[in-house]
Amino acid sequence: MVPQIALLGAGIFVRTQYIPRLRELADYVIVKTIWSRSEESARAAAELARDFAPDIDCKWGEGGLDDIAQDSSIHGVAVVLAGQIQVDVSLRMLRAGKHVIQEKPAAESTSEAEAALSNYGSFLNSRPYQPIWAVAENYRFEPAFAEARKMMENIGDMMNIQVVIEGSMNSSNPYFSSPWRRKLYGGFILDMGVHFIAGLRMVAGFEVATVSAVSSHVDSSLPPPDNLCSHFKLTNGCPGIFVMTVSSPSPKIYWRFVGSKATVQVERGVVNKQHGYSVLFFPGGGSCQSSFFPFSGVNEELKAFFHDISQALDDGSSHEPDPRSSFIEAARDVAVLEAMLESSERDGAPAAVKTF
Ligand SMILES: *[C@@H]1O[C@H](CO)[C@@H](O)[C@H](O)[C@H]1NC(C)=O
Repeated sequence: MVPQIALLGAGIFVRTQYIPRLRELADYVIVKTIWSRSEESARAAAELARDFAPDIDCKWGEGGLDDIAQDSSIHGVAVVLAGQIQVDVSLRMLRAGKHVIQEKPAAESTSEAEAALSNYGSFLNSRPYQPIWAVAENYRFEPAFAEARKMMENIGDMMNIQVVIEGSMNSSNPYFSSPWRRKLYGGFILDMGVHFIAGLRMVAGFEVATVSAVSSHVDSSLPPPDNLCSHFKLTNGCPGIFVMTVSSPSPKIYWRFVGSKATVQVERGVVNKQHGYSVLFFPGGGSCQSSFFPFSGVNEELKAFFHDISQALDDGSSHEPDPRSSFIEAARDVAVLEAMLESSERDGAPAAVKTF
């Protein structure tokens, strides 16, 4: 059965990412409703989707959210709102029995994530089926990271990891002025950083256990901090560094996993005008194998979510949703950054990462 969903939010990310991706996935999902706080923005976003969702209707305000919660023809919702309110809206929809995919970050803090999980657990058993709670973070669905994970089997003993993120969040970026990102604890380090931590955890195949970090605020046009430099230890004992600059004049993004027999590197790049990631394998002796994977994670994770909803509709409670997008996975990414931010507030004192 093709599920019907409501899109909650009509901001830049909905207009430039969700609507184009949902158009590509029109065989897998029907977009029934679009909701925004204001009628005007709901209507404007609906017009962008009209070509592939001719019957789309608009809802707005609190009353509109209640209508969506009560509409039994809507099986799932995508929550694409300010980071500060997403968890509340997601829980409201889950409680109404809707399957939810929520944009990252999973939560503003680990304490919010813990409270949310216990709230979610409290009403799960009162329903005949378990509403799915997915977080859209896309890196766990990027083929480049899956390929790098496989290559890790051939690097010998893991010796160290370097994650270097020199971002390009300047005034030309459409999210630069987004007010909610500026009020978030950790600013862009948390908002963007969850992706980079997801890539690290996925390829390493181990959790980050402890961190020690120093941060600084250099560019006053950005929320603090805009630089963070951390070392960390994985649960297997492997040491590593995570260095992040929110806005650099010469952006560069890579993850490098150094082993006793070979090194694996994933690097952001552009090949034939396509944005994506190169995956490099250095077996030693000067040779290198390289392959390029264009971005496709947003598409893949949405497809997985719609597939999970249709399976849940067909087989009821027995269906296990894709673990890559679970709320807990995304909360683990927040936990690593929160530990780094807290350590940096205490001048690099070691901090343990909260486990979920
Ligand atoms: C912002 O960063 C991009 C990518 O590095 C660059 O092309 C652009 O010139 C920068 N804009 C400003 C205003 O610095």
